[in-house]
Amino acid sequence: MTPLIGETEDERVDLKSKIRNLKSKMKPLRVDIITIFPDYFRAVFDYGIIRRARAAGLVTIEAHDLRAWTSDKHHVVDDRPFGGGDGMVMKPEPIFAAVKSLTGANRRETVPPGTRVVLLSPQGQTLTQASAAEFAKCEHVILICGRYEGVDERVADAVVTDEISIGDYVLSGGEPAALVVIDATLRLLPGALGSETSAVTESFSDGMLDYPHYTRPPEFEGMRVPEVLLTGNHAEIARWRREAALEKTKRNRPDLLK
Ligand code: ADE
Repeated sequence: MTPLIGETEDERVDLKSKIRNLKSKMKPLRVDIITIFPDYFRAVFDYGIIRRARAAGLVTIEAHDLRAWTSDKHHVVDDRPFGGGDGMVMKPEPIFAAVKSLTGANRRETVPPGTRVVLLSPQGQTLTQASAAEFAKCEHVILICGRYEGVDERVADAVVTDEISIGDYVLSGGEPAALVVIDATLRLLPGALGSETSAVTESFSDGMLDYPHYTRPPEFEGMRVPEVLLTGNHAEIARWRREAALEKTKRNRPDLLK
């Protein structure tokens, strides 16, 4: 049976020092958010994984007001849809101007290497652990938050490198989706997690859900923690965890096993 990565204390220490080495050579990831609600993000930058990653110098994040890139007196960012229909559509000009000022490019082909221009939209490709891992390897990620009925399609056609949805449901805007992308990405930056090995063994990193976790008390309202976890037998525990992860995946996400 293949051991899990970082299963022994020696392996964990080795991994941690490799991660520290890597970290010291890395430039911080730059994340720019383009939104009509920059204040939406203010509080969350100061909590949890985002606060930790910022404090460790792994990332810089800025939320920009799209209206700063309008040129009319009223800072209009939306307009009626051609062809009729309900609601308003976000205009292309301020978004192209924002991307140009943040990257120097206003076409996908000239976006610098290591830069991703991401449009959050329900029409995008679904975010996965693999796509978050790709964003974590970038130097610069720009997140464009749509609002209203949608974003003029020329944005997706010409300047966006990735159109991303966080799931098959419609949010009132791309802002919560941008936060999800940021959280999933930042926790994969080496050094961002409290326990640096935990991103290696968690859900989806090997195409399966994570194994079940337990802590004290060993018995709660008649429910006992699986005995094997109390034995200290690491090989048995590793085997139990693999089997339990497989069971849980079969039950909750059989699609992952196809
Ligand atoms: N904007 C609205 N709904 C969305 C979704 N499901 N994912 C990403 N952005 C969105």
